[in-house]
Amino acid sequence: MKKTVFGIAAALSLALAGTAVAQGYPNKPVTMIVPFAAGGPTDIIARIVGDHMSKTLGQQIVIENVAGAGGTTGITRAMTAAPDGYTIAMGHLGTFSAAPATYPGLKYDPLNGIQPIGLAGGTPILIVARKNLEANDLKSFVAAIKATPDKFNEAHAGLGSVSWTTCTLLKGQLGVPKLNAVAYRGTGPALNDLVSGQIDFMCDQIVSVAEQIKAGTIKAFAVASVQRSPALPDVPTTTEAGLPEYQIEAWNGIAGPKGMPKEAVDKLVDALNKALNDEATKKRLLDLGAVIPTAADRTPDGFGAVIKRDAAKLDPALKNAPR
Ligand code: MLT
Repeated sequence: MKKTVFGIAAALSLALAGTAVAQGYPNKPVTMIVPFAAGGPTDIIARIVGDHMSKTLGQQIVIENVAGAGGTTGITRAMTAAPDGYTIAMGHLGTFSAAPATYPGLKYDPLNGIQPIGLAGGTPILIVARKNLEANDLKSFVAAIKATPDKFNEAHAGLGSVSWTTCTLLKGQLGVPKLNAVAYRGTGPALNDLVSGQIDFMCDQIVSVAEQIKAGTIKAFAVASVQRSPALPDVPTTTEAGLPEYQIEAWNGIAGPKGMPKEAVDKLVDALNKALNDEATKKRLLDLGAVIPTAADRTPDGFGAVIKRDAAKLDPALKNAPR
């Protein structure tokens, strides 16, 4: 009798395992960790791209916001999860390229110890301020910051975040490395305080500030790109505004823990590419000022090369930046 029961159990478990394999990846929802508070640029891009990826995968991509430590808390959670394809993250220039120089004890190796999937969206950087700040253009803003640095409050999303990194580069160039800075769990919450006038300025990614700029609830001094953004044609570039040396663009991209099954990586890369080729998804991203990544950057190797390239670029400036 015992033998029969075990025999049936063994046969059943084999069949179930077989079903799982036959069903292939993914056979349950996929968690995408967003390492900042909801409403910020990384969350916005994750939800837009993840929405279409879910359709292709046939399983829901579930966004989980895990904030802290400039995004490294959430990325650590994702990169140390089981490499089964069911935990991935939407990280960015900060969490993958600035983090090694900012966090010596980083618990993940973004350069060689993660599984890049692909870039999800380029994000031009804007210098934005509360709408009633005295300065009305970049030149007068820079002059005021240099004259009375203590008078200004800057918002960012933690050491190593894009907002911290890009404004650190700006302050280094202006020779005002240390300003009063307020850290938030993401630039989504920081933007609320900028709109209400609690905070004076920040350097943020276009996708979360474009609508507020168009609505006139905050003001933009410049975009730190070579060309103006088609989404904000009236905002000058930093070159046009008199600060040509300040040029930097950020990006957000998907990665998972090293060792993920090839089937999972391939399915996620395919779903990302289908999302970025989908006209409606592209429009949502472009309307917010995002830059659609090239086909090469939407691949694990291409994205991995971008992470390495920008880490090398940022390292010298960030290594000794004031914390
Ligand atoms: C966010 O989503 O809040 C931003 O990406 C945070 C940052 O890096 O500035």
